[in-house]
Amino acid sequence: MFNATRIRERSLAEHVEVHHELDSTNDRAIELVRRNETPTPALIVAEHQTAGRGQRGRSWFSGDGSLTFSWIAPRLERSEFGSLPTGLLPLATALAIVDGIETVALLTGIQIKWPNDLIVAERKLCGVLIESVSVGSEQFVVVGIGINVNNQDISRTQTDNPDPTRPASLAPTSILMETQQHISIEELLLAIIDRLGSEFSQSLTPPSTLIDRCNSRLAYLGQPVIFTTPQGASTTGICEGVSRDGGLLIRSNEGLQTVTSGACSRLIGPK
Ligand code: BTN
Repeated sequence: MFNATRIRERSLAEHVEVHHELDSTNDRAIELVRRNETPTPALIVAEHQTAGRGQRGRSWFSGDGSLTFSWIAPRLERSEFGSLPTGLLPLATALAIVDGIETVALLTGIQIKWPNDLIVAERKLCGVLIESVSVGSEQFVVVGIGINVNNQDISRTQTDNPDPTRPASLAPTSILMETQQHISIEELLLAIIDRLGSEFSQSLTPPSTLIDRCNSRLAYLGQPVIFTTPQGASTTGICEGVSRDGGLLIRSNEGLQTVTSGACSRLIGPK
């Protein structure tokens, strides 16, 4: 399905792997990073994943018509990485993907569900799993992206580990389901890769327009939300947008707070 030579020529990645099947492109990327022999940025693409991983220990099922890949960002010195505004990386990723999708598909209304899910009309179109790995004095960021592109049957896209303390997953959708148009998965991949590098470097060198661009696409802005921390504690309040360091601003009865890790969902019913 993919033309590996064309992807190598067009992607600006220093190392490109195209696999028919992998357990997980993020696992492969982390394996390469740990070996520390692969030049960066690097791109790992798989037509099929047998053990795709999602956020918070979930699995990610990618059926026919999905785009699944991982991008290893240019390596950074660990000392440098620690002083960078890395809270902006998920948002930079989300913006690169939205922009890539809008370049190749006639799809409007894509929103960013903080920090980096993409949704359309309250259905999940894309998931991102960013993992950071340190090797010696260097720090590597692996950005794993799963997009439902030409999928027709995606009832199994995301499988939850049932846990009542976590917000329910959104139902999935695909570009095809939203637009009734098949698009080239390879063109979409190239469009996103084109943008990932520049969004990443912009996010690490503020000031940038990134926060404003995120807020203009932020799901639930001005609406009641429930925010759940990775430990399961939840807060309800009004979503007031993305903060300068990439957190989410929530105004609750206790005042305005910035949350930095966890999941945010629309609050249904009385506050
Ligand atoms: C989520 O929304 O839970 C994140 C899903 C991330 C899935 C992608 S598919 C490519 C990459 N490889 C993985 O194993 N996971 C990510």
